[in-house]
Amino acid sequence: MPSPARVAVAGVGNNVSALAQGIRYYADLGAQGVPEHAFPGVRRPRIGGLAVHDVDLVAAYDVQPEKVGRDLADAIFQAPNNYPRLDVEVPRGVVVEPGIATEEEAREGIGRITESLRASAAEVFLYSLPTGMQWAASAYAEAALAAGAAFVNCTPETVGRDQEMLGRYVSAGAPLLGDDLASHFGTSILHRAILALFAERGITLESSYQLNLGGNEDFRNLRERGSSKRESKLNALAQEGVPLDKVDVVPSAGYVPLLHDNKVAYVNVEGVGWAATPVSLDLKLRVQDSSNAAGVIIDLVRIAAAARRTGDKGFITAAAALLKSPPGGHSVYTGQEIFASFHALARTGTA
Ligand SMILES: NC(=O)c1ccc[n+]([C@@H]2O[C@H](COP(=O)([O-])OP(=O)(O)OC[C@H]3O[C@@H](n4cnc5c(N)ncnc54)[C@H](O)[C@@H]3O)[C@@H](O)[C@H]2O)c1
Repeated sequence: MPSPARVAVAGVGNNVSALAQGIRYYADLGAQGVPEHAFPGVRRPRIGGLAVHDVDLVAAYDVQPEKVGRDLADAIFQAPNNYPRLDVEVPRGVVVEPGIATEEEAREGIGRITESLRASAAEVFLYSLPTGMQWAASAYAEAALAAGAAFVNCTPETVGRDQEMLGRYVSAGAPLLGDDLASHFGTSILHRAILALFAERGITLESSYQLNLGGNEDFRNLRERGSSKRESKLNALAQEGVPLDKVDVVPSAGYVPLLHDNKVAYVNVEGVGWAATPVSLDLKLRVQDSSNAAGVIIDLVRIAAAARRTGDKGFITAAAALLKSPPGGHSVYTGQEIFASFHALARTGTA
């Protein structure tokens, strides 16, 4: 059995709360004798030999005074985080360190975070800051590169799609997975499938939109800093036969605190069928927003750790369908190539 993946996190928000608690949830299920293939909500019980609970969070960085200096097991419950408290014990012993707070301190900060990543022997650095902070995404990616860790970008900021950065990760022999995670069962994946179905059935698309509402920090932030997310969400919908000029997405159509960490999304699709008669579809989706992120982060960090262990570098094809904006866009990765990439990672199984 491989040793657990060592993962450091930048941004101790709801995503990390859902990840840290979820890992314990599955560890407890395993300890109760529940077989991994029967774990609820898990698509891939093992990646590169790693189970969903074979992930240790070994370092964490944030800038919020209520989180910095606290044990990660407590920091994940500090407001404005509002992912629910599960009935699990998150392991103690990782104290949240100060992150890189401003662009001006990036130079000093990169050196400091690099040292810390090395000291914690992190194999993977998970970037999970608020959307819209390109300078921060670049700075944390520099730190991971200098420390020789793999980088996973949860946000729509350009890191994995940056050819220059990707080339430097290849030269350094480290994996770089980005950009922007595609939620487990989110609006993008649902909207993409419906648009594909319209095209496949020959219904001519007239117009379509998606509206997303939520009550967590991400939705509050996206009201003001949603432009990179909008672009990334459109990347997620891009596919043959779908005229994107007829599609609109609103990343945060409203911040509704009463929804807490739930997301409510509405998808509308209007088309015409035989003899130009109308076909109209309206859907409502409601999900626990940050579980929806963690359910995919767990695959991305296992892919990154397994790839690093096998010596695979740069973008790892297995991650393509788990991201909204992989390098080159979705059309360059076939299902067969993605399957083969997962298969190749299996060779770390005994590492
Ligand atoms: N389903 C999903 O939840 C989903 C899906 C796709 C992408 N994402 C993206 O993942 C990212 C994280 O989401 P979240 O819900 O955890 O957000 P969040 O707002 O709950 O957490 C972000 C954390 O980053 C910290 N932070 C801010 N500036 C920082 C800095 N300079 N250095 C270190 N830490 C800093 C904040 O204090 C906060 O703790 C967002 O960009 C979001 O758009 C989320």
